[in-house]
Amino acid sequence: MCGIVGIVGHTPVAPLIVDALKRLEYRGYDSAGVATIEHGELARRRAEGKLVNLERRLKDEPLDGLIGIGHTRWATHGVPNETNAHPHFSNGVAIVHNGIIENFAELRQELIADGYTFSSQTDTEVVAHLIARELAAGAEPVAAAHNALKRLQGAFALAIMFKSDEDLIVGARNGPPLAVGHGEGEMFLGSDAIALAPFTNSITYLEDGDWAVIRRNEISIFDMDGNRVDRKRQQSLGTSFMVDKGNHRHFMEKEIHEQPEVISHTLAHYLDFANGRSKPLDLPFDFAKLDRLAISACGTAYLSGLVGKYWFERFARLPVDIDIASEFRYREMPLSKDSAAIFISQSGETADTLASLRYCRKEGLPIGAIVNVRESTIARESDVTLPTLAGPEIGVASTKAFTCQLSVLAALAIRAAEARGTISAEEEKLLVRQLAEAPRFATQVLKLDQQIEKVARELAHYKHVLYLGRDTNYPLAMEGALKLKEISYIHAEGYAAGELKHGPIALIDENMPVIVIAPHDRIFEKTVSNMQEVAARGGKIILITDRKGAAAASIDTMETIVLPDVPEIIAPIIYALPIQMLAYFTAVFMGTDVDQPRNLAKSVTVE
Ligand code: AGP
Repeated sequence: MCGIVGIVGHTPVAPLIVDALKRLEYRGYDSAGVATIEHGELARRRAEGKLVNLERRLKDEPLDGLIGIGHTRWATHGVPNETNAHPHFSNGVAIVHNGIIENFAELRQELIADGYTFSSQTDTEVVAHLIARELAAGAEPVAAAHNALKRLQGAFALAIMFKSDEDLIVGARNGPPLAVGHGEGEMFLGSDAIALAPFTNSITYLEDGDWAVIRRNEISIFDMDGNRVDRKRQQSLGTSFMVDKGNHRHFMEKEIHEQPEVISHTLAHYLDFANGRSKPLDLPFDFAKLDRLAISACGTAYLSGLVGKYWFERFARLPVDIDIASEFRYREMPLSKDSAAIFISQSGETADTLASLRYCRKEGLPIGAIVNVRESTIARESDVTLPTLAGPEIGVASTKAFTCQLSVLAALAIRAAEARGTISAEEEKLLVRQLAEAPRFATQVLKLDQQIEKVARELAHYKHVLYLGRDTNYPLAMEGALKLKEISYIHAEGYAAGELKHGPIALIDENMPVIVIAPHDRIFEKTVSNMQEVAARGGKIILITDRKGAAAASIDTMETIVLPDVPEIIAPIIYALPIQMLAYFTAVFMGTDVDQPRNLAKSVTVE
């Protein structure tokens, strides 16, 4: 996902913009650039690759100017090179963009026919030329920007600068987030509050369809029809601190180790440990009256929802329909008036998840959102926000957000079961007490890092890995595979262990390790049979289990990782840690960019 920064300031802005872009690096990018108005002219520096390359360029060729825009680009149209890097120029207009202009091809043809020449392969450049054409037709900058915006279809967050006005940046938002930061005699624009944190925590979030006229001492916000709109100015939560790695090599490692603490914060938000109860929640629906719960999300967030499905159905006897958001949004699932929907998203900005939320909104469903960014779009468009208290998650691979999502879902399932009368007060007390133990067990599991690192060293030699699990360990098997492939680039698949003989067993040989996630629970024996099927074909097994499981498995394994015996309700939370650590250490051995893996973005705000 691209990052946008703009400053209408009173000191040289180029270094400030680069610093703010650094706070957006976690979003993933492959080139970057800055433009300012320098001595009355537009000037820019752009560079392929990481921000250090742009900094080097600026050191060699500094940029003056008290107004500027900057961008980190995650390529959608056009290869990641300097020519395609933003900002893009056209006749006194400079622009940076996050998103996809869906009608760019038609606009490009129209502009070429009008004599405009394109220097890049990007969709963004059409916007610069559209605005320039409006200026050429006699429009003032603000009107020129507004006229051009009305031609655009698709998702966009934009920052636009004009050579002719050194006290003006136009911001626009339709999909990807954009926030205005209020300063003293200066104004800021950024993709999120984290980017603006060094300058201000007084933030106004633009809504979809908004565009803003930003000057040093005033901002005006309009809707696409040109009507002025009011947007709340608020104190941004908790983003004033600088997010850094502490004494860890990577954000991902730091975030894996933060889990005991953030899991406890999250559980404490929902559970009354002293009285062994789930806390009352101000929900827009009554669990007791629901006939069905729809859940939708993407990637790791989806897999947390899949675990949640087992819990809602097992403890609350509440049927759950869950689907990945990119399918949910087009499936047109029939929803009854007694249904509710929950969307899970770390960033709260994932386009497919937001689109699925809007489908349910249109269908009149009450909507809850489990998010890690409380001011996010998904949070703002839901009836109730159910926060994960994971703190900013910078590593592209989601770790602490996942276990906090599981923590919220477990607490919600207990809440639902209590409301539906499917568990007794005693059973509720027991479940709450068991959840309260999760941070302690998580701390113990993190101490297995040396053994897990040793296994990872082996794993790094393979090209393919299969993960197996049953029941709530089946989504964990898929999550383990997702973690491994997305940061080490080793192909991996997660499968229901019971499905092994329906196809995947054909793959088994000594060249594909099989990671089996299997605490000693009521179906453990079934998974032992699967392991025997693997062993009989020369497959190599890495078993993640507990003491009883290790004793009962009676299988020769490549390695057995023995976790503490944990209650069933917290097993998915605890067993998530070794699969995260396995992926992390493997990626370190592979020498990949662990925090910003190739081709990936922290939040996918385009379809
Ligand atoms: C997880 O490790 C991935 N980075 C990715 O699957 C992620 O979970 C997915 O894109 C959803 O993001 P969200 O939680 O911000 O909506």
